[in-house]
Amino acid sequence: MKKKLVAGNWKMNGTLEANDALVRAVAAGVKDASCLVAVCVPAPYLAQVQMLKAGTPLELGAQDVSPHAQGAYTGEVSAAMLREFGVRYAIVGHSERRQYHGESDALVAEKAKTALASGITPIVCVGETLAEREAGRTEDVVKRQMAAVIHVNGHCISEIVVAYEPVWAIGTGKTATPEQAQQVHALLRKQLAAATEHAERVHILYGGSMNAANAATLLAQPDIDGGLIGGASLKSADFLQIVAAANAASR
Ligand code: PGA
Repeated sequence: MKKKLVAGNWKMNGTLEANDALVRAVAAGVKDASCLVAVCVPAPYLAQVQMLKAGTPLELGAQDVSPHAQGAYTGEVSAAMLREFGVRYAIVGHSERRQYHGESDALVAEKAKTALASGITPIVCVGETLAEREAGRTEDVVKRQMAAVIHVNGHCISEIVVAYEPVWAIGTGKTATPEQAQQVHALLRKQLAAATEHAERVHILYGGSMNAANAATLLAQPDIDGGLIGGASLKSADFLQIVAAANAASR
C-alpha cells in the first residue's frame, strides 16, 4: 500500500520560540512513522526548521513558490532558494492565495511546473467555495483547477501531490464527510488517470478541518492518501495524533 502523507500547513503562524518546541516534539514523534510527514512553514523559518528536523524523517515544505527563476520580482522566493534549505514540498494554489492574492489557475499551474523543475514536489490545492457547492458546481470547479495544472505539466503530472480542500471546510470546523471527500478524490483520480498511467501513485490529500477525531475515517477512504492540516498542525499532540492515524492506515 502507498504510504499516507501528512503535511502541516502552519500558514502565517509561528515564532522562533514556539517553532522550536513544536518541531522538536513533532520530529521526535515521527522517528518511527510508517507514513510520510512534512511541515510547510513560513519562509523566514525554513533555516530554523531545517536545522531542527535534521537527522529525522520529518520533511520540510514551503507555502508558496515564485513562478520565476530569478531577477526583479520583489518579495518573491524562487524554487532554487527553497531547495538550498532542503525544501521537499511547496504548497501551490492554496485557496487563501487564490482568494486574497488573485492567483489564477494558469499561475498555479506555472508555479507547480517551476517547483517540479527544481526537484520540489508541489502540493497543488483545489476546492470549491460554499456557493459553488450549493450551486452544484463542485465537480466543474475542481476539474477546471486540475485541468490547468495537467495541461501545463504534461507527463510530469504523476510527480505532483494534490490537496482537495473545500474552501467552506478550511478553518471552520466543518469537515467534508468521508463520502463527500471520497467522491471528489475519485473524480480527481479519474482525471489524472486520463493524463498519466501512474495516477495511482499520486497522493491526493484531504484538507479542511482535519483533526485527531476525524482523521482515521477520512484516511480510510480508498482515494484519500493523506491530509493537509492547518490549525491542528500548530499543536504537536494534535498533529501527532493525525500522524498516528495515518501510520495505522499506511500499514
Ligand atoms: P485547517 O486548514 O486544517 O485549519 O482547516 C487546512 C488548510 O488550509 O490547508
